[in-house]
Amino acid sequence: MAVRVSSKIWRDYLYNKVKSGGFGATRHWSSAAQTPTAPPPKKIPHSSKKGRLFTGAAIGLLIAGGAYVSTVDEATFCGWLFSATKLVNPFFALLDAEVAHRLAVSAAARGLVPREKRPDPSILGLEVWGRKFSNPVGLAAGFDKNAEAVEGLLGLGFGFVEVGSVTPVPQEGNPKPRIFRLRHEGAIINRCGFNSEGIFAVAKRLGIQHGKRKLAETSSTSSSSKDEVKHGGKAGPGILGVNLGKNKTSEDAAADYVQGVHSLSQYADYLVINVSSPNTPGLRKLQGRKQLKDLVKKVQGARDEMQWGEEGPPPLLVKIAPDLSKEDLEDIAAVSLALRLDGLIISNTTISRPDSVRQNPVAEESGGLSGKPLFNLSTNMLKEMYVLTRGRIPLIGCGGISSGEDAYKKIRAGATLVQLYTQFAYEGPALIPQIKMTFSFVHYL
Ligand SMILES: Cc1cc2nc3c(=O)[nH]c(=O)nc-3n(C[C@H](O)[C@H](O)[C@H](O)COP(=O)(O)O)c2cc1C
Repeated sequence: MAVRVSSKIWRDYLYNKVKSGGFGATRHWSSAAQTPTAPPPKKIPHSSKKGRLFTGAAIGLLIAGGAYVSTVDEATFCGWLFSATKLVNPFFALLDAEVAHRLAVSAAARGLVPREKRPDPSILGLEVWGRKFSNPVGLAAGFDKNAEAVEGLLGLGFGFVEVGSVTPVPQEGNPKPRIFRLRHEGAIINRCGFNSEGIFAVAKRLGIQHGKRKLAETSSTSSSSKDEVKHGGKAGPGILGVNLGKNKTSEDAAADYVQGVHSLSQYADYLVINVSSPNTPGLRKLQGRKQLKDLVKKVQGARDEMQWGEEGPPPLLVKIAPDLSKEDLEDIAAVSLALRLDGLIISNTTISRPDSVRQNPVAEESGGLSGKPLFNLSTNMLKEMYVLTRGRIPLIGCGGISSGEDAYKKIRAGATLVQLYTQFAYEGPALIPQIKMTFSFVHYL
């Protein structure tokens, strides 16, 4: 009874309050819905003391901020932009790994990523295969599989970007989910299985970009100063690698790679035969002595039959797995030397699960492991291959690079250039200037 009385008193109180306008804006919303002629909501007039103060403070802040930013040089501003990208990392971390990846590629394709305006220190510049790299740090294959974002990614300050793997015929790849994060270990397991839009879609895209890059090169050469390291490949600033794969159902692997050469080599500063993905059945067998020899001969033949201008055909590299025995490595080194291969990429992802990831249940997912736990395995292989090839073939060190020190260790192990993927996926654009800065510092010491 007492409860009923008190609830009636409370209801009456609320009713009177609403009727008398005691709840301010609430009254206007409700009455506005009923009568269109209701008076407008009460606003803080600009002429009031509070309003004037607020407007004045906002304008003052804007002017002061603008004046400060205008005094900041381009390099500092660029540094701010790169650092600011770290703010979106927690948001990306909340998304499914493949969705986050798609978003990142779209952002880079639309130019929604910072552009590196600070020239690379000349100490980082180098010439490989007759091409000038402004720095030796590249983006590994698999990030931009369909060449959607080459300009945006090169603009982040990578010395080179490798697109692909591209298969002749479009294919979906393995069912999703197929990319798994091992965040604490700084690693990823993927079993993408060469999801690719195919060589024609990629050729079309690269054809359009090719024209644009040529224009960019023309305008940049006219304004570049003498002591600046001139960088760029055949089609413009920045070096572009094209990584070729084979279709899952294809019986003739060599024919697939040859198709890739015919359609894409004209756009590439270098080509890669990828025979090391663990997610395409039988692919890794192509690393065997005889298979590799036959394959490389056919692909080299196809490339050399094409008509090339003054700069000649693009160099041909082979990307190998980190799970090879000493004998496998000896075979690959022998084939590479005998056929004068232009380079090797060491390495792709591993099917092994090092101790550092075993306690994570995600480690049980099948696929190739990349990132920090791959560093030692791939760097040791790099060292061995450098010795086996007697330093005669440029090697690209890839696997587990997460800092400038790591990049430098790869160079010390025998790499001419380095590439990364996983740590870039975790840290985003801010990692690139960071790696280059530490690398040039360690290099200089
Ligand atoms: C999600 C994902 C997809 C990849 N796809 C390809 C690919 O299509 N072709 C290829 O040669 N390597 C591919 N890789 C391997 C990377 O290019 C690189 O060799 C490997 O991840 C080791 O470098 P990291 O430890 O810096 O990531 C892929 C790696 C990841 C994580």
